Amino acid sequence: MTVKEAATARRSIRKYTDAPIPEADIQEMLRVAGLAPSPWNLQPWRVKVVVSPEMKEKLMAAAYGQPQVGAAQAVFVIGNDMNDVLANVEETVHPGYGDQIPEVAQNVKETMEKMSEGDLQWWGKSQGYTFMAFLLLQAQAMGYSTSAMLGFDPVEVRKLFGWGDHVQISAIVAMGVADEDGFPTHRHPLERFTEIV
Ligand SMILES: Cc1cc2nc3c(=O)[nH]c(=O)nc-3n(C[C@H](O)[C@H](O)[C@H](O)COP(=O)(O)O)c2cc1C
Repeated sequence: MTVKEAATARRSIRKYTDAPIPEADIQEMLRVAGLAPSPWNLQPWRVKVVVSPEMKEKLMAAAYGQPQVGAAQAVFVIGNDMNDVLANVEETVHPGYGDQIPEVAQNVKETMEKMSEGDLQWWGKSQGYTFMAFLLLQAQAMGYSTSAMLGFDPVEVRKLFGWGDHVQISAIVAMGVADEDGFPTHRHPLERFTEIV
C-alpha cells in the first residue's frame, strides 16, 4: 500500500473485531512511527501501548467512557516528556558530530531553557502529532484501523502510567481490525485551505 492509498483509505473506526494485534505488529508500527522527524531529532514522545483488559477499562474511564477504547485491541497513548529530553540531549545528537556532541547538546539546552515553561510543554506536545500521523498511516498499511482521540482527562491518564504533571499527552489512538465502515471521508476542497503563491 502506498502512502496515498493508506491516507485515502484511513477513516476513524470505533468498532473492532476480536482479532488480536500480534505483538510483532505493534513493535513494527512503533518502529515506523518512531521514524517521524522532530526538531534537533529530540523525539520527545514516550508511548504506552495498552493491551490488557484491566488497563483498557481504566483508560476508557479516563476517556469519558468512549467505547472505542474498550473495544480496541490496543490503545496507544502518546505522551511527550521534555524533562527526559533535556536530561538526555547528548543521546539524540547525531553521532556524526563526534567531538562536537557536547557543544551541540549545550546549544540545544540553552535554546530550550530560554523558552517559557508553557512554550516548552507546547513544543513537546506538538511533536507527538507527527508520531501519531506516521502511526495512523502505518497501521492502515498493515490492515488495522484506528481512532485518534483527544477526549480524555490528561490528569487521569497521567496517573494511570505514573507520569509526572510535565508529561504532555498529544493523543490516544485506539486500534484494531475494523468492524464497521466508519463515515465516508469529508474534507474541505483544496481552495478552502490552500494557496500557491
Ligand atoms: C487529534 C484527534 C483527536 C480526536 N478525538 C476524538 C475523540 O476523542 N473521540 C472521537 O470519537 N473522535 C475523535 N477524533 C476523530 C475525528 O472526529 C475524526 O478524525 C474526524 O471527524 C475526521 O474523520 P475521519 O478520521 O474518519 O477522516 C479525533 C481525531 C483527531 C485527529
